[in-house]
Amino acid sequence: MRVLFVCLGNICRSPTAEGVLRHKLREAGLADRVEVASAGTGDWHVGKAPDKRSQAAAQLRGYDLSTQRARQVSRADFATYDLILAMDNSNLRNLEALQPAMGKAELDLFLRRYQSQVDEVPDPYYDGEQGFEQVLDLIEHASDLLVIELKGRL
Ligand code: 4NP
Repeated sequence: MRVLFVCLGNICRSPTAEGVLRHKLREAGLADRVEVASAGTGDWHVGKAPDKRSQAAAQLRGYDLSTQRARQVSRADFATYDLILAMDNSNLRNLEALQPAMGKAELDLFLRRYQSQVDEVPDPYYDGEQGFEQVLDLIEHASDLLVIELKGRL
């Protein structure tokens, strides 16, 4: 199984989701069964490490994002990944516009799929620290449910 998280810049939300899911898969003994990655719909930050604020907030909860580097999502990703999960509705619309007719990937909105109370992971880029904590809260909850889904599918 291959899972790809997508946000706008690939320096805040989707790297956080990548780090959190990878950690939870390791805890569940599924690290070698599921490949996790992330990408952005935009290209402004390609090659950069995750935002320092995302790294710091994640580190406090035990997730290491430091080795990740931003990249832009491509049409080829729809052939590589089984599940592509968008962080907000704008990301989802951009992915739908990019999606080839024959891609194998299932495309969905991350939080909506896991019945969270909110549909979108809010963009924290222009927010204070509180925004990064909220991103982590939402992603941790949905990732627990995603791990349960993955266990059932493997
Ligand atoms: P992300 O956050 O999509 O969660 O990585 C953002 C990062 C950078 C920008 C916007 C959102 N930006 O406009 O540069």
